[in-house]
Amino acid sequence: MNDQQKMENIVSLAKRRGFIYPGSDVYGGLSGTWDFGPLGVTLKRNIMQLWWKMFVSDRDDMYGVDAAILMNQKVWQASGHVATFTDPLVEDEVTHLRYRADHLLKDAGYPVDGLNLADMTKLIRDNNVKSPAGNELSDVRTFNMMFKTTVGPVDDESSVSYLRPETAQGIFTNYKNVLDSFYPDLPFGLAQQGKAFRNEISPRDFIFRSREFEQMEIEYFVDPAKWEEAFEHWRQQVWQWTEALGLPTENVHELEVPESDRAHYSKRTIDFEFDFPIGREELLGLAYRTDFDLGNIQRESGKNMEYTVKGTNNKFVPHVIEPSFGVERALMAVLSSAYTEDEVNGEKRIFLKLPEHLAPVKFAVSPLLKNKPELVARAKEIYTSLKQKYGAVMWDDNGNIGKRYRRQDEIGTPNCVVVDFTTLEDGSVTVRDRDTTEQKRVQPGEL
Ligand code: GAP
Repeated sequence: MNDQQKMENIVSLAKRRGFIYPGSDVYGGLSGTWDFGPLGVTLKRNIMQLWWKMFVSDRDDMYGVDAAILMNQKVWQASGHVATFTDPLVEDEVTHLRYRADHLLKDAGYPVDGLNLADMTKLIRDNNVKSPAGNELSDVRTFNMMFKTTVGPVDDESSVSYLRPETAQGIFTNYKNVLDSFYPDLPFGLAQQGKAFRNEISPRDFIFRSREFEQMEIEYFVDPAKWEEAFEHWRQQVWQWTEALGLPTENVHELEVPESDRAHYSKRTIDFEFDFPIGREELLGLAYRTDFDLGNIQRESGKNMEYTVKGTNNKFVPHVIEPSFGVERALMAVLSSAYTEDEVNGEKRIFLKLPEHLAPVKFAVSPLLKNKPELVARAKEIYTSLKQKYGAVMWDDNGNIGKRYRRQDEIGTPNCVVVDFTTLEDGSVTVRDRDTTEQKRVQPGEL
């Protein structure tokens, strides 16, 4: 199985088994949007809850927030997003379809790191690069990726707002509120999970590049003299996170982003890349945002964003370290690491080797035969008690036992419990391990 086949198999399994469906599918879809089905939403929440536990609940220096998605347009002017949150765009002169210039050039084999718009246009002209349809391309120009909308009944410039392209600004605008409510000592962080929206020119690669997606972001406020220490701390935390997701260490790579490729607010960025089946691509980012955002807010709002070191007159605007995680990319990395094919009794088997703490279903419970009331009754009792304890337990009595195992393998259920005639004699049940397919007899209390 090559990488392209693997990706196609994952997309097909995700749809077939109720993880991820194309958005608005029934009406022919809406490019760059995806809907999470019953198992997908559970897997996604398991990832998000793991993150919240690791980075918020288990720490003393972190505060959670949940800010409104719609924000005053001044937020996006001050943050620089109105002016600079752009991608390079080229247009097919015949079909008028638009493409990301850097993607087009990269796919054609040209290195694009650090190139500006004029460089990319020159590269296209010098090498006679054509659109995917074989037509002439326009000059490269910029395209702002924010979705513009209006808030309220009057449609004029003053009512313009944007769907947030990052959750970070909802954190920065609440920095002062939290400071005033909780008086935290520096360093401390604010964390937020939520939707972000980007009008990507060419959404692609399944959920990897979507127009609507979910972020989990931390803005960690530090004494400017200590930013390097904090950066290193979060770098180590990111590695712990990839480990907690069960991603093989050898598939995660750090990329020190050169200045020419860094976002407008960053003085240092490390992209954590992952070997997805689509290639080595960005999983998440770690940036040193300096006092760029709080400084802008202070200037534009006229409100003081300084922190006073307790018991002193030492005041400064804190600097910020920002680890920024994409939920869909984490989920895609988890799915691609988990997707496995092997052979059992001469037959091909597909299974998701998900870490148990992320698996959407922890146990499937079945009676060996569904037309034997005594087996069904005992299996129901075990199902109910496991469900009370773990929640994520599935009842499965459809088809023969082999088919049930295959179905549960495909959704990554680590344990299948079967009640058979021996259960009625000595109380024991069989538990089948997803990865080894080995079965053993245990008492239900041992599950
Ligand atoms: N606040 C900083 C920020 O938003 P970013 O590198 O633009 O930085 C952070 O985005 C993360 O959000 C990325 O590393 C990725 O995981 C995720 N992300 C960004 N754009 C995405 C898209 N179009 N689809 C899915 N995830 C995306």
